[in-house]
Amino acid sequence: MRPTPKATEQHAHASADFAGKLAQTRALLSTSITDYAPLKQASSLGAEDGVITHLINALQLDIPVFVLETGALHNETLALLERTQAHSRAAIEVYRPDHSAVIRFVRERGQDAIYRSIGDRKACCDLRKLEPLQRALQGQRAWITGLRREQSTHRGAVEMVDTSELGTHGRIKLNPLADWTWGDVWHYIATEGVDYNPLHDEFFPSIGCAPCTRAISLGEDFRAGRWWWEDEAAKECGLHATHTSVKTTEKAPA
Ligand code: ADX
Ligand code: SF4
Repeated sequence: MRPTPKATEQHAHASADFAGKLAQTRALLSTSITDYAPLKQASSLGAEDGVITHLINALQLDIPVFVLETGALHNETLALLERTQAHSRAAIEVYRPDHSAVIRFVRERGQDAIYRSIGDRKACCDLRKLEPLQRALQGQRAWITGLRREQSTHRGAVEMVDTSELGTHGRIKLNPLADWTWGDVWHYIATEGVDYNPLHDEFFPSIGCAPCTRAISLGEDFRAGRWWWEDEAAKECGLHATHTSVKTTEKAPA
């Protein structure tokens, strides 16, 4: 039987204007140091974030990268974190949740609470992701993320320079890959030899915490494997809440 092709073979396909997009991305990252410092890159160690960290290193930009290590990441993601720490020129910072708060949550609500109600699922995201995010971004004027318009309808209006968090959090969000396609991301990974999470070879396009991420099937949406038991409109963890209209309709797991 023919082995399943690697993600690089499956997806690498540059759009016609890829060179222009790459030039714009490089320009935004290069000028961000003077225009938006102090700033950091937020990396989930997914494909998009790997591209951005690679560019930060290639351009020799002094932009630290931070990873929210939620305590619920896949082993493959933790292994990639170690390799990235070993090889990156840019500093890789790791932020973890308050351990006692996590233990209290599991003791009081149980390990499976996240599947039972959106309220409990969001409480878990609050303590494993949002509280560490506030620490990671303390004193920063801007942050860089891997959001792309193509990822979901909720992200369809994402701008490269996004000011939607200025009023609430007082910071700019830079999305240097906003107009990149999935094919562009993999074209860059393939041509530059970027290290990536092997889960991408197993039909995980979007990778979050292990209990909340599954592989997708042919024809399913890009984010179908994230919080798959919830309504489409609720599928965000709050890191990027300004791009969504979050509903709280509850659904039982399939
Ligand atoms: S999420 O809101 O659904 O979890 P997604 O996985 O699509 O977000 O990632 C979008 C962007 O959010 C990433 O490109 C990255 O910039 C940031 N991000 C998501 N998860 C993390 C994480 N664990 N640590 C740091 N940044 C993250
Ligand atoms: Fe908790 Fe899942 Fe949110 Fe991770 S994605 S913080 S495991 S609810």
